[in-house]
Amino acid sequence: MRYLLALDQGTTSSRAIAFDAQGRVAALAQREFAQHFPQPGWVEHDAAEIWATQRVVARECMQKLAAVQAGRAQSAIEITAIGITNQRETTVLWDRATGQPVAPAIVWQDRRTTARCEQLRRAGKAALIQRKTGLVLDAYFSATKLEWLLDQVPGARARAEAGELAFGTIDSWLIWNLTGGAEGGVHATDASNAARTMLMDIHRLAWDDELLRLFNIPRAVLPRIVPSSGVLGETAPDVLGAPIPIAGVAGDQQAATFGQACFAPGMAKNTYGTGCFMLMNTGDRAVRSRNQLLATVGWQGPDAAGARRTAYCLEGSVFMAGATVQWLRDGLQMIQSASEIEALAASVPDTGDVFLVPAFAGLGAPDWDGRARGTLVGLTRGTTRAHIARAALEAIALQSADIFGAMVRDSGIQLTELRVDGGASRNDLLMQLQADLAGVPVVRPQVTETTALGAAYLAGLATGVWQGGDEIAAQWAVDRRFEPSLPEPQRLARIARWREAVERSRGWARD
Ligand code: G3P
Repeated sequence: MRYLLALDQGTTSSRAIAFDAQGRVAALAQREFAQHFPQPGWVEHDAAEIWATQRVVARECMQKLAAVQAGRAQSAIEITAIGITNQRETTVLWDRATGQPVAPAIVWQDRRTTARCEQLRRAGKAALIQRKTGLVLDAYFSATKLEWLLDQVPGARARAEAGELAFGTIDSWLIWNLTGGAEGGVHATDASNAARTMLMDIHRLAWDDELLRLFNIPRAVLPRIVPSSGVLGETAPDVLGAPIPIAGVAGDQQAATFGQACFAPGMAKNTYGTGCFMLMNTGDRAVRSRNQLLATVGWQGPDAAGARRTAYCLEGSVFMAGATVQWLRDGLQMIQSASEIEALAASVPDTGDVFLVPAFAGLGAPDWDGRARGTLVGLTRGTTRAHIARAALEAIALQSADIFGAMVRDSGIQLTELRVDGGASRNDLLMQLQADLAGVPVVRPQVTETTALGAAYLAGLATGVWQGGDEIAAQWAVDRRFEPSLPEPQRLARIARWREAVERSRGWARD
């Protein structure tokens, strides 16, 4: 039996999922890892812990697969290839000789470089950056995080210029460790991840000298950019017990778009993870957003017929979605498990005009305000935790509704449905709120592990398991469709009220 092993390194957990050739989950292993918040607005990960947990879950998943297979009268399992997908933008800088990170990884949610971005904006650099990278000038992306590390870690800049240090987003860090680390590891990233660094020209798919100068980044630290689908190396034998080709790599949101089979221009998906990320395929050209969305590389991989093409996407990035529910659980201890929120929120018919603006890490699209902070507005003596729980779910749906509106305006395409995935897409109340507040049918597929599935597909296409996108699209199947039920005037009124609440959250943080 042939399987694809997807390594899905997310913001809060490392996962490994084995898929069979029908795109079904055959085995899964997962480990959470520590989040560090050393100062307000800072978010860090220990890159060594990320690698350790990723390696453990990969091994565990392979063991589970072997155990399942042992009960069957079939030939031994074979992992045809590995596909990697990852939290994007998170920035790691490591020593090539020892393989050790020189500092904690700066996570995509980290706001420490907001002032630097404001300085660049005042210097008039935002337009140049948008033209070349498709991105909005914001601390979200890797460039200012890497610049910060090179400036703040003693000796780092000189060592980077001498070729002693390596930079990577999490995909590069995993690839390097999987392929042998300090003993000859491959230093590479794929085009979808490179598109999030703010250092790559997305039209040429190459690191850009002008941007490197702007952010003071020496070329010697950068990985090689490779296609999202294609064999880039194999695992060192001792890492997973045998050499396995690494044949697919994509940022988690692009991988989910691929896993949702959004192959035609105008098809869109929304993933409900730590944050919420809506991506729409725009075909073989990057669309320049006029509504504060991002243009990004979707993937460099096979099209319907199997020919290699670059697909671009428009993206709306919301920083807090599932993490809002996590905060209600861990920060406020209002619920014991995330799954409790649905029943609690459903116990009241509405929020009683309470709004929660989860700008805990600033606001992403379409507001892009690094100084916005979380706001709870409209509290009365009648407000209960149920109202706050419902306001939290509505906030997730309202943020996505804002993005959805911007996407329709940018593309000129009236999207006919929104495919959804990620953990919180199993929350029926949230999905109905989403359909109501965005005013579009929301469609949940049977397999909601689409991020990992997308990575498996990219790897399987490169190794002959599948021939092209058509074969993959045929595997996609609907679980449930949520139809919008809110009359349009009510929907618009709700959005207008939400926008008032968003305004109150803006510009709060001081240096
Ligand atoms: O851009 C950040 C994104 O890649 C994080 O995804 O799934 O960890 O919320 P997730």
